[in-house]
Amino acid sequence: MHEVRRQLSDRQFKSIADLIEGQVGIKLPNAKRLMLEGRLFKRVRALKFDAVGDYVDHLSDEDALENELTHLIDVVTTNKTDFFREPQHFDFIRRVAVPDLLRQHGRKSRDLKVWSSACSTGMEAYTAAMVLDDMIRTGSRFHFRILGTDISTAVLRIATSAIYHRDTIEPVPEEFAKRYFLKARDRTRTEVRVVPELRRLTNFTRMNLMDTSYPVDRDVDIIFCRNVLIYFDRDTQRRVVQRLASHLRPGGYLLVGHSESMIHSALPELRQVQPTIFKV
Ligand SMILES: C[S@@+](CC[C@H](N)C(=O)[O-])C[C@H]1O[C@@H](n2cnc3c(N)ncnc32)[C@H](O)[C@@H]1O
Repeated sequence: MHEVRRQLSDRQFKSIADLIEGQVGIKLPNAKRLMLEGRLFKRVRALKFDAVGDYVDHLSDEDALENELTHLIDVVTTNKTDFFREPQHFDFIRRVAVPDLLRQHGRKSRDLKVWSSACSTGMEAYTAAMVLDDMIRTGSRFHFRILGTDISTAVLRIATSAIYHRDTIEPVPEEFAKRYFLKARDRTRTEVRVVPELRRLTNFTRMNLMDTSYPVDRDVDIIFCRNVLIYFDRDTQRRVVQRLASHLRPGGYLLVGHSESMIHSALPELRQVQPTIFKV
């Protein structure tokens, strides 16, 4: 196997960091240099370049960049997620948000729309689906649909397949795990799959939060934008939050990650209900 040189020159690092910030919004200060070189390394080896720097230089060609962009995005994005991550949000949805939204909807419509706007492999969207379905089973009367979007096509493939390693459902309450996941008959298989009833209510599509407009309905009830704003600079955070809020119905909720509560300064019309929960 041939040796690949990992180190980027200052010029190459600046060029790839600017490119990624422009395309994806993710800031890459010098402190992230080693991490970035490491992440690009695998891709560079697969493409048989001699050096990570050669790959970066290659991307200065517009056509090369166009062909490579989805792969580059897949390697530079951080996709960590979990079922029932930050579980207080799902308690809030059950106890407060849905009853409140249904009161607002009145008799007109009982259709709730939920959007997981940086959905990674879909665990956030399917967690919301489990909680909402459970509310319906226990007597609430409404329907729901869930949209999951992300910039990375690799994670969207997993989200659409709804197939996960069985260890990932550890945080799922046992009753939900039994009800909402299928296990293979062959006990040596390690995958589980979300049941078709929830898959049918959940759609995934690619969308870049950097885009100036989002092809999404303007009357969404609940938007998740968790653990992605932290990678953006303040101006980008503000613009993204503004655009997302414009897709909420009046009275709708925006949920951000626990380290992202700073966005409350982004929009005067966003009312902070709890540190990471906002309402328009
Ligand atoms: C750390 S994960 C968070 C997943 C989930 N929201 C959660 O909290 O568990 C961040 C996700 O944001 C996505 N992402 C990063 N930049 C994005 C952008 N500009 N537009 C859309 N998604 C983006 C990444 O691909 C990644 O899947």
